[in-house]
Amino acid sequence: MSAIVIVGTQWGDEGKGKVVDLLAAYADIVVRFQGGNNAGHTLVVNGRQFISHLVPSGILQSKICIIGNGLVIDPEVLLQEIAVLKSMGINIGPQQLRISEKAHLIMPYHKQIDLARETKKGEKKIGTTGRGIGPSYEDKASRRGIRIVEFMDPDVFVEKLHEILEEKNFYLKNYLGGESLDAGQIIEQYKGYAKQLEPYVADISVEIERAVRQGKKILFEGAQGTHLDIDHGTYPFVTSSNTIAGNACCGAGVGPTHISDVIGIAKAYTTRVGSGPFPTELLDGTGDAIQAKGAEFGATTGRRRRCGWIDMVLLRNSGRLNGLTGIAITKLDVLGGLETLKICTHYEAGGKNIHEFPASLKRLAACRPAYESLPGWSEDISGVRMFEDLPQNARRYIRRIEELSGIPVWIVSVGPGRDQTIIIQNPFS
Ligand code: GDP
Ligand code: IMO
Ligand code: MG
Repeated sequence: MSAIVIVGTQWGDEGKGKVVDLLAAYADIVVRFQGGNNAGHTLVVNGRQFISHLVPSGILQSKICIIGNGLVIDPEVLLQEIAVLKSMGINIGPQQLRISEKAHLIMPYHKQIDLARETKKGEKKIGTTGRGIGPSYEDKASRRGIRIVEFMDPDVFVEKLHEILEEKNFYLKNYLGGESLDAGQIIEQYKGYAKQLEPYVADISVEIERAVRQGKKILFEGAQGTHLDIDHGTYPFVTSSNTIAGNACCGAGVGPTHISDVIGIAKAYTTRVGSGPFPTELLDGTGDAIQAKGAEFGATTGRRRRCGWIDMVLLRNSGRLNGLTGIAITKLDVLGGLETLKICTHYEAGGKNIHEFPASLKRLAACRPAYESLPGWSEDISGVRMFEDLPQNARRYIRRIEELSGIPVWIVSVGPGRDQTIIIQNPFS
């Protein structure tokens, strides 16, 4: 059977949505397994753009889309997204969209706590998306979260909410200096959401298992990126879930023996949105030029993305943590016109060469990127569809990434459109 996991290798926004939409053509089912609406995955089809935050990026290919148990779901956002898709003429009934009964809810107090904490932290803020992601996962881990299955039972939901809200209001008011929330209002609002979402709720582990037995092809869609992983990222400047490929199994209820390939998505350069370390960040005109040409603004919050050169320490780290079998390089077109391109091969600190990504932020701060320079190209490559037709220096750049990472490049993306892609090896064939 073919089950492929797609993950980001950097700090998110690598173009996962575009690649999932593209490969969904060859799959039967697309499954999101972690995160929430902190994600913003952009799909561009026939010049039309759609940004998915919760609905898997296979929806425009009319594939079955599953929201796994590993997610935290803001029901208001999900319903809005369903409404937008319906208004676009997309078929998105309970036949197409399935939601795990074990996924957790994002409640109004999660969003308030997220925002108020960031304000209180001031300069030291993480730069979260403010969507309540961290506080919802905290409640999951401390066993007082509300799952979709409890949400579907009005009596249980009300009982749980009353238990939790007293403590949340105390914390919000007395520690964070915010407003307390009214249980009645939340119950009224969420009752309506539950009714609308009920037809979509399912035991998705059972449904995926059934599909696997029927020989169906599954695509697991990661959100965020490897270096935002709660265990392996630049902690504490990370998100609150495991973003690496191993979590596809946990966040969807499937065994690891089902996974056949893992594809890591990497931008041809690096971006990061929010706070946190970024060794190859460019704080000069080149960084500004990449930011402008790549239209690097967050798909969820609209914040300007920080830009820098590609970092092979990150990519190799991702290769190991995810067990990558192939790489998709996106936004290669954005680098066109730059005379010289730089690839960070390793870091240097205290006279030593550092090849592995340090866990200590203090040690990471002391690291200076060591670069190798390659000549650029001036041609517009956005119309290229065959690897052989790329300018020689663009091919050289890709080949060098393969050499330095030890992982083959299977896909090269040269524009946001679904068709603006060079498929060197189709993982489903
Ligand atoms: P994701 O979160 O990983 O799905 O990525 P985002 O959608 O947040 O950000 C990627 C952005 O780059 C989106 O605006 C995409 O439309 C765009 N994009 C993806 N691939 C390419 C490409 O090859 N070239 C260009 N110019 N844009 C791309
Ligand atoms: P996609 O799936 C880029 C970042 C935030 C912040 C940190 C924690 O579109 O690649 P959170 O709201 O998760 O608690 O914020 O993680 N972040 C992302 N950055 N792309 C994303 O998703 C992100 N999701 C979260 O900017 O630095
Ligand atoms: Mg994004």
